[in-house]
Amino acid sequence: MTHRIAVIAGDGAGPEVVAEARKAVDALGLALEWHDLPWGTAHYQETGAMMPPDALDVVRGYDAVVLGAVGDPSVPDHVTLWGLLLPLRQRLDLWANVRPARLLDGVPSPLAARPEVDMLFVRENTEGEYSGVGGRAHAGLPLEVGLETSVFTRAGIRRVVEYAFTLAAKRRGLVTSATKSNASRYGYVLWDEVVDEVAAVHPDVRSERVLVDALAARMVRSPMSLDVVVASNLFGDVLTDIAAELQGGMGMAASASVAPGADTPGIFEPVHGSAPDIAGKGIANPFGAIWSAVLMLEHLGEQDAADRLMRAVEAVCREGIRTRDVGGSATTSEVGDAVAARV
Ligand code: NAD
Ligand code: IPM
Ligand code: MN
Repeated sequence: MTHRIAVIAGDGAGPEVVAEARKAVDALGLALEWHDLPWGTAHYQETGAMMPPDALDVVRGYDAVVLGAVGDPSVPDHVTLWGLLLPLRQRLDLWANVRPARLLDGVPSPLAARPEVDMLFVRENTEGEYSGVGGRAHAGLPLEVGLETSVFTRAGIRRVVEYAFTLAAKRRGLVTSATKSNASRYGYVLWDEVVDEVAAVHPDVRSERVLVDALAARMVRSPMSLDVVVASNLFGDVLTDIAAELQGGMGMAASASVAPGADTPGIFEPVHGSAPDIAGKGIANPFGAIWSAVLMLEHLGEQDAADRLMRAVEAVCREGIRTRDVGGSATTSEVGDAVAARV
């Protein structure tokens, strides 16, 4: 069966890193077709919309989506992101955002001690602080108010926490849940209760609740004390940028937005954004995008191909063919070429 993959290369450095992910996957020789969906800020400039009105149906016709990045300095970020990425995640109900953070051999760490890093983040991906509920009143007046309401549902928390426990059982057996239920009294308190309920039916997995500020500190101080971290949408977003740095830099980090148990196409995207400061220079690190393709192959049931691609990424990192953000001097396409050659 041929895998049909939609490509939303998007903005800025997105197309540069996605091209290398495609190159690397093509080298595996799988039965796989790419279909470009030219959505993003250029589409917005032409049509007034980031993606066409039937976008959800279009995407549902594929087995997976590879996404580069969305966001351009010419348009406010809330317009571009709420025009494309966030509605796709939310309306396709891709409720788990899975983000591995592993420091690969050869990649320099920003920390002098170069601690080992091997964490897996499971970020709630459709609700919480990203629910899109809110509004503004008294527009333009001095008493103008902006409301942004976090929505936490028992079902929404439960499924993502359950999933984190399932993943931890296959790893080092620890789930750390991040909340802020000292300052907040409702949503995160419900979250903590659900974690305790799920923990009670998973005696095989150890679990702990950690306040998110303390967790951020612990990630830097003793990363190997963490295995699977489950967090709300916003906390997961922030923590995974810290995690990206712990694995060498923003350009290394990979991500999968998926709906475990459903046959909805997942969105596989690096953690980083459109990197306008380096876009167009051929120096963006493609490893995050390539690693995201590894996650896609796993999700498509192509475990052997995923393992081959990951081994190629590890070998190329070890050999030193890396972009300048991770201590090398290679260009984006030289890294992609090297990975494709080793595949
Ligand atoms: P960013 O991740 O684009 O950039 C932050 C820093 O990391 C920059 O210094 C950048 O040069 C560096 N960086 C990012 N990707 C890199 C790569 N592949 N190789 C080397 N260095 C890399 O974050 P930002 O600057 O806050 O956001 C820029 C735009 O991207 C904004 O419009 C934002 O909304 C958007 N954004 C989109 C996504 C997404 O589509 N998934 C994610 C994050 C940010
Ligand atoms: C990410 C990004 C997005 C998020 C933005 C661009 C909306 O930062 O995927 O980490 O916050 O989820
Ligand atoms: Mn982010």
